[in-house]
Amino acid sequence: MQNESQTNSRLAEEIRDFKKKRKAIILAHNYQIPEVQDIADFLGDSLELSQKAAQTDAKVIVFCGVRFMAETAAVLSPQKRVLIPDVQAGCPLADMLTVKDLRSLKESHPGATVLCYVNTSAVIKAESDVCCTSANADRIVKALKSKSEIIFVPDRHLADYASRRADKDLIVWNGHCPVHIGISGEDVLRQKRTHPAAKVIVHPECTREVIDLADGVFSTSGMGKYAKETEAKEIIVATENGFLYRLAKKNPDKKFYPACEKAVCADMKLITLKKVLWALKNMQFEVKIPPQIQKKAKQALGRMLEIT
Ligand code: 13P
Ligand code: SF4
Repeated sequence: MQNESQTNSRLAEEIRDFKKKRKAIILAHNYQIPEVQDIADFLGDSLELSQKAAQTDAKVIVFCGVRFMAETAAVLSPQKRVLIPDVQAGCPLADMLTVKDLRSLKESHPGATVLCYVNTSAVIKAESDVCCTSANADRIVKALKSKSEIIFVPDRHLADYASRRADKDLIVWNGHCPVHIGISGEDVLRQKRTHPAAKVIVHPECTREVIDLADGVFSTSGMGKYAKETEAKEIIVATENGFLYRLAKKNPDKKFYPACEKAVCADMKLITLKKVLWALKNMQFEVKIPPQIQKKAKQALGRMLEIT
């Protein structure tokens, strides 16, 4: 009988062999489970992962994250095969906006520029003018011309943060990330009382109440950079808790505390080593985007990459 760590090393070895056979690269989001983070060729936030997907010359991308992220990779690299090890891994925030919703919002605001968060399906991106991620939402809002109205979908908290930073009004869709809005101001204050010397870093999908308690507001990779550069030895982290594994691994001399123990994205945890191996063996589940959607969605992502 093998113990868990022996099983994981065996799976990791098989994954390495199959990866070579398939000329594949494994991209993983910062919220993935530790063993998946450990076998990734590249680990990052949504912006970094989309840049990496656009640049790699691998034939196959195994995307360990949620569906919209794998779709983004397929939009940016239509000549590659993009696999997601579990098709059920969705994003409840992305699912809060349908194409029908967006079309009727556009009809109510003719002439408005549509800015969509990367946490959206490819069809929503195809209906949008420009895309953004949590790493650049404020910069993109700032860069858009002030003359026309700006529709921001689907996350109202990220919209509120970007609007305040850029000092621009936005027409906002009422979506939210259930994981990030579950972190309360009281959660952060409780951790502050327990660790008074700790700095507080917050993801912009959190509520305004939590954002206003932060020493820094960042995408996950922005948090990683802050954690490395700060002189603080203790940091309270308000985002999905899977990211604390990477923070602790990269900064063994520092202590990281989750703002809220319950901040766990069940969809992100659906990807396992077994499923990654299965995906490589069976070349499944392939993410395919119809060409007319791919072309338009790529333009929205392309505008974002140009601005940033
Ligand atoms: P990042 O792009 O900051 O990693 O965030 C992605 C996400 O899904 C946040 O919940
Ligand atoms: Fe979506 Fe929130 Fe999960 Fe990120 S943490 S994938 S926004 S549900």
